Order: sequence, then C-alpha cells, then structure tokens
Amino acid sequence: MIEIDEYNPSTMQLAKPIYDSHKRILLAAGRSIHPEYLKRIKKLNVRYLFIEDAESAGITLDEMLDMPTWMDTIDITQEVFNEAGKIKNITQPTLRKVQKTIDRLVTEVQKRPLLVLIPSTSIAEELKPFAHGVNVALLSLQIGRKMGYNMLQLKTLATGALLHDIGKAINKDVEKHPVHGFELLRNVSELSILAAHVAFQHHESLNGTGFPRSIEGKQFHEMAQICGVANLYENSISKDMLSPHEAMELIMTKSDNTYSHPVIQAFYNGVPTYPPGTKVVLNTGSEGIVYKIDKNLHRPTVRVFPTHEEIALAEKPTIIIEKIASS
Ligand SMILES: [Fe+2]
Repeated sequence: MIEIDEYNPSTMQLAKPIYDSHKRILLAAGRSIHPEYLKRIKKLNVRYLFIEDAESAGITLDEMLDMPTWMDTIDITQEVFNEAGKIKNITQPTLRKVQKTIDRLVTEVQKRPLLVLIPSTSIAEELKPFAHGVNVALLSLQIGRKMGYNMLQLKTLATGALLHDIGKAINKDVEKHPVHGFELLRNVSELSILAAHVAFQHHESLNGTGFPRSIEGKQFHEMAQICGVANLYENSISKDMLSPHEAMELIMTKSDNTYSHPVIQAFYNGVPTYPPGTKVVLNTGSEGIVYKIDKNLHRPTVRVFPTHEEIALAEKPTIIIEKIASS
C-alpha cells in the first residue's frame, strides 16, 4: 500500500481495483494507471493505492477481505444509515440485509488466521464513514474471536460495531451520537439490547473520562470496550494517518485506564504490528518488505533488498525491525 503521490506508472501495477462513490469499478487490478486517471482518482480523495512492483511481487493479501465483499458491506451500511436518517428506524427488509451481511463478516473473519484491513482511506470520500463502520466491525470480530466469544456473541458484537456511529445519521451533534444511536437501536426489537449498548458506550472509558455518561469500571460493557478499541485503531490508521505499529503502540497505552487488559491483549493477539507489504529497515541495516506472517503475528518474514533473501524474524531473535522505511 502506497500513498497516491508515490505512484510510478512505469514500475507499478494496481494490485486491487479502485471504486468510485457508486461502488463501480473505476480501474481494474493488474494494470498501470494513466496520468489522467490518476488525477481523477485524486479528486475523489483516494489517498492510498494497493500496488505491485518488483519489490512486492508475490505478496498476497489473503488476510484481507476481498474487495467485492467489503464494498457490499459498505453499501448495506450506507443503506441502514440513510434509512435511519430519514425515518429514525430500521425496516424489516433492511434489517434482514444487515443480518445477512453480519453473518458474512463473521464467516470471513473466522476463516482467516489473521486480519489485515483494507484502509477506509482507500475509497471515495462519501463512503469513508461506512467503510469505517465495516472496519470497526471486522476488528471487533477479530478481538471477540480472540476472547473466545461464541457465534451469538460475535453477531451481537459485530452488529453493534457496524452501527456504532448510526446516531450521526440522525443528528449532526457529534457529542450526542452515542445517545441517538442507542435510542434508535434499542427500539428495533429484533436486535439485542447489547448491540444498542455498544453504540451507547463506544466513547466511554474505564476511568470515567469518556462520554456521554462518564461511566466507570464494570459499568463499561466488554463488548463496548472492544468496539472502543477497534474504533480508536481504525481512526488512528485512517483519519490520523498513523502507521499500524504506531497505532498498536497507542492502543497499548490504553490498557487498564481506558480499556481492560484482556481486551487489549485480545487485540494484540489478533492484529499484526507490521502488515504484509510494509517496507521496513532492520537493525542489520538492510531494507526490506514484510512478505508474510505465519508463526508469530508480530515477527513476520521480511524480504530483503536487493538480494530478495527472506528472513523469518520468528527464527532470528537478534534481528529486529528498527523502523518503517520511507519510500
Ligand atoms: Fe463514534
């Protein structure tokens, strides 16, 4: 994944398609981008591209949700938000779609050993809030799974996480969106009240410094804590442009003051510090690219330049990642 300004048409091919705000494929994967198109994509406020070049050749992103599934889920999230904004309710047909998409997300997360997100910054501006919801649901599911949640718990958690910001569709007052979200979701009788509480509490904190109610300790439901961690991480890597390892570090600082230690631990056990494709500098002085993650989530295999030698950090305890390489 690169910033759009780093794109070089003579050495890079698009590795994942680019979609416009109507979720139509603007550019398919497997070709280079014409400069005119590049301008157009920039106008859509797409910040990142997935590319393949000589250095990254052979890196697969199987850990990532496939684009069509991701886009479908974004589509349905947008539909629910729009409906909520219009009629302050969720109708039966829309609710069915939500439940179907939740089932799909649970299946997708469960079949992968680890989770790498498609950044919500990689799509058109208008879709970002919904992509954010989808990513928060995916991250929440990964944390819930590491906490040993059963199927019913996972579905409740994912529903609350997907719709955690639905209050924003009802009222522009950001301070009140957890309350508006709660009021809406609790009145949908088919939804678990717990899902409504996830929306209600996702900005709360264990030490009572959150909002809207400044609840403390045990009052802060575990599922809402999970959604809180997922929300913080997603915002850090998208809005705040932190790199994944910086966002991971930020999450670590929240243990026992904002979120409980087991929730933070589950996050650490489910989300890689250096996702495949990250360019890194090792303490040996070599530069390389994270090639794959297998045995150890936080000690990936790095392909070193220019030799293309693969170093499995899990087996080389003296070699460490010093920093992210500036491309
Ligand atoms: Fe929020």
